[in-house]
Amino acid sequence: MTEQSEISGSGRRRVRGFGIVGAGVISATHADAIASLPGARLAAVTDVEPDRAKTFAARHDCAAEPDLDALLARDDIDVVSVCVPSGLHAEAGMRAAAAGKHLIVEKPIDVSLPAADRLIAATRAAGVVMTVISQHRFDQGLIELRRLLDDGQLGRLVLGEASTKWYRSQAYYDSGAWRGTWAFDGGSLMNQGIHYLDLLLWSMGPVIEVSALYSTETHQMEAEDAALAVLRFASGAVGTVVASTAVYPGFAQRLEISGTGGTVVIEDGEIIRCELSADHADPGLRGSLTARGGSASAATANPAGLGVDSHAAQIGDFLDALDEGRAPAVSAEDGRAALQVVCAVYESARDGRAVRLSAASAMPGNAPGSS
Ligand SMILES: NC(=O)c1ccc[n+]([C@@H]2O[C@H](COP(=O)([O-])OP(=O)(O)OC[C@H]3O[C@@H](n4cnc5c(N)ncnc54)[C@H](O)[C@@H]3O)[C@@H](O)[C@H]2O)c1
Repeated sequence: MTEQSEISGSGRRRVRGFGIVGAGVISATHADAIASLPGARLAAVTDVEPDRAKTFAARHDCAAEPDLDALLARDDIDVVSVCVPSGLHAEAGMRAAAAGKHLIVEKPIDVSLPAADRLIAATRAAGVVMTVISQHRFDQGLIELRRLLDDGQLGRLVLGEASTKWYRSQAYYDSGAWRGTWAFDGGSLMNQGIHYLDLLLWSMGPVIEVSALYSTETHQMEAEDAALAVLRFASGAVGTVVASTAVYPGFAQRLEISGTGGTVVIEDGEIIRCELSADHADPGLRGSLTARGGSASAATANPAGLGVDSHAAQIGDFLDALDEGRAPAVSAEDGRAALQVVCAVYESARDGRAVRLSAASAMPGNAPGSS
């Protein structure tokens, strides 16, 4: 393990070595995020396609290892970023955990709950820490929404809606044999919509009932390119989630949270509307929260058009969590909770009935060290 340390904004942080498994679209975001962080150094990459690993290694100034075992054998790697197709996350993650590596797993945690549970059990057995990427929790508008929720300014929550109306071409689905398959990817909700679904769960709390429909109308793919569901939350509040990759030309991802104290509307990571009943005596606060800056996401139609900052913020939080011996902001159980709702949407749509989730299984532990 690396012994160096660096001064960062949050204090002295040990420099941790990173390895990346899977050198495709999202791995470049991980490499750029790691490069931007004090306390992180990219040591090596591996891919089943050796040329991809070599090209990636040359571009990002790291070693290319011939396979995952060789990468895991390196003692200058403390953390492994799992960037392989979604249905391979648990398999790669379990091997990395068994080698004593901490884990940053791309979303979704995997595509089935048994696989997610095997991975979580493996990290616990190995005593390593894991986060599942949900980078939009670190977007500015979500940080402000979190503060409003924690301060109780939205009151008792009543209605929450998450919408991802994006566009992906047939060429996107044809670009990898795994894309759009049930076994390795899932459809528009599992891959694209899960980001704002996670934000909805983070805001509204766990879901206990799901009624859903899905369809595949415009792409040659196994899984759905449009899904919508009506949700009941454990709190008694209700909501909706919509996800599609068939909405041309693609629109901003949207989150709307309403409570007895008011409503916040977010588009692409920024608050575009904040109406608080208590606010009418405080126009300064209202003014700052309704302000709108540049867009946090350019991925509405282009999967490679993603910014690096939010990934860097989540990976930075993960490094702080390792240093401080606390749980990361996004736990493995958070990743499982989002997957559980996606699976319930698919089950409800297939069976034509409402699916109930037990409150216990819908509220996994979030305690420090639980991942
Ligand atoms: N957080 C985000 O915004 C975001 C964006 C895009 C993708 N993702 C996630 O990242 C993951 C990868 O997506 P992508 O678009 O980069 O896919 P991709 O197909 O571009 O890249 C995957 C890479 O993994 C390699 N690979 C496959 N099996 C492997 C194995 N067993 N061992 C080593 N390498 C293997 C492939 O050769 C390929 O290079 C998916 O889970 C996806 O959901 C997240």
